[in-house]
Amino acid sequence: MSDMKHKFEDALMEFERALDYYLTPAHRKDDTVWRAARYSLLSGGKRVRPRLLFMTCRLFGKDPPQEAMAFAAAIEMIHTYSLIHDDLPAMDDDDFRRGQPSCHRQFGEATAILAGDLLLNRAFEIASASCVKSGRPEAVSALWWMATMAGGEGMILGQSLDLAMDGRCREGNMIQYTDSTNTSAKDGLTSIEQVREMVTLKTACLIRAAVGAGARLSGASKDEETSLDQFAASLGLLFQIRDDILDVVSDKELLGKTIGKDVRDLKKTYVTLLGKEQARLALAEAARDAEKALDALDEKGRATSELRSYIKVLETRVS
Ligand code: IPE
Ligand code: IPE
Ligand code: MG
Ligand code: MG
Ligand code: MG
Repeated sequence: MSDMKHKFEDALMEFERALDYYLTPAHRKDDTVWRAARYSLLSGGKRVRPRLLFMTCRLFGKDPPQEAMAFAAAIEMIHTYSLIHDDLPAMDDDDFRRGQPSCHRQFGEATAILAGDLLLNRAFEIASASCVKSGRPEAVSALWWMATMAGGEGMILGQSLDLAMDGRCREGNMIQYTDSTNTSAKDGLTSIEQVREMVTLKTACLIRAAVGAGARLSGASKDEETSLDQFAASLGLLFQIRDDILDVVSDKELLGKTIGKDVRDLKKTYVTLLGKEQARLALAEAARDAEKALDALDEKGRATSELRSYIKVLETRVS
C-alpha cells in the first residue's frame, strides 16, 4: 500500500472513532434516543460522503484542514438521519437498513423520528463548534453550504418531490397503493427530466455538501469551487442511478437493504421510467460528465486521479 493510501485509510479509521466520540456525551449514552442514533450511525455504511470530503481536501494539501473531521462527521450524521426518516412507514416504509432492522423496526417510530432529529442537530452542534474554535471564515462558509444543501431547497425538497411522484395516495395517515396498471394522469406526466431534478435534489445535494465543504475548508478559488460542484452534481446523479439499478439487480444480504421496493412503491426512478438498459446509459453519461468537470482542475495543477478512480468505484459498486 502506498504511503498516501495508507494515510487515507488511517484518516478513515480516525473518522470512525470520531463518530463514536461525537455520539457519546457523558451520562447520555444509555438513553433510548441516543442508543437509537448510535444504532443507525455506527452500524456501517460506505461513508461515501466523508470519503469525498477528505478526497476533496487532499486536492489542496497533504494535511486536512482542522475542521475537516467535524464536517465529515456532521455530513455522515445528516445522511444517516435522512436514511432513518426515509425508512419510516410514512415515507418508504423500509424494514431493513445497513444489514439490520431499520431504526423504527428496532426502536419504534417515535424514537426513530427523534433519533433522526438528534443526528441532524448534533451535526450542526459539532460543525458549528469547530467553526467557533478555528474562527476561520472559510469554515463558516462551509457551514452555510452544508445547511443549504441539506435543507428545504436541497435534500429535503428532493425527498418531498420523491414522495409526490410515487404511485401511492396519501390521505391523512393512510397510504394506499394505486393500481400499477392504471396509467393515471399523475403517472403519465412524470418525465425523466422531473426525475433528474428530484434526484439532483434528494441525493446529489448531500454529495455536493461534502465536496463543497471540503473545497471551502481548503480555501479553493471560486473557479475551483464551481468545477468541483459540477463534478459533485454529476457524481450524485450517478450515485442515485446506480442505487436505482441495484434496487432491481442486487440481493438483500449484499446490499444490506430491501430489494425491489421501487417497483413495489411505484417509485419514479431511472429504472422504472427508462428500463435497466437506458438507465445504464444514463449512468455512463453521468460518469463522463463527472470526469469532464475534473478536467478544469487538472489544468490548474490539482491531482484529480483519486477522485477519478472514485467515480469508477461508485459507478460499478455492488453494495
Ligand atoms: C443510500 O445511501 C441512500 C441514497 C442516497 C441512495 P448510501 O448508499 O450511501 O448508504 P450507506 O451510507 O452506505 O448506508
Ligand atoms: C433516498 O433515496 C435518498 C435520501 C435522501 C435518503 P432512496 O429511497 O432510493 O434510498 P434507499 O434505496 O432507501 O437507500
Ligand atoms: Mg426514498
Ligand atoms: Mg428509501
Ligand atoms: Mg433506493
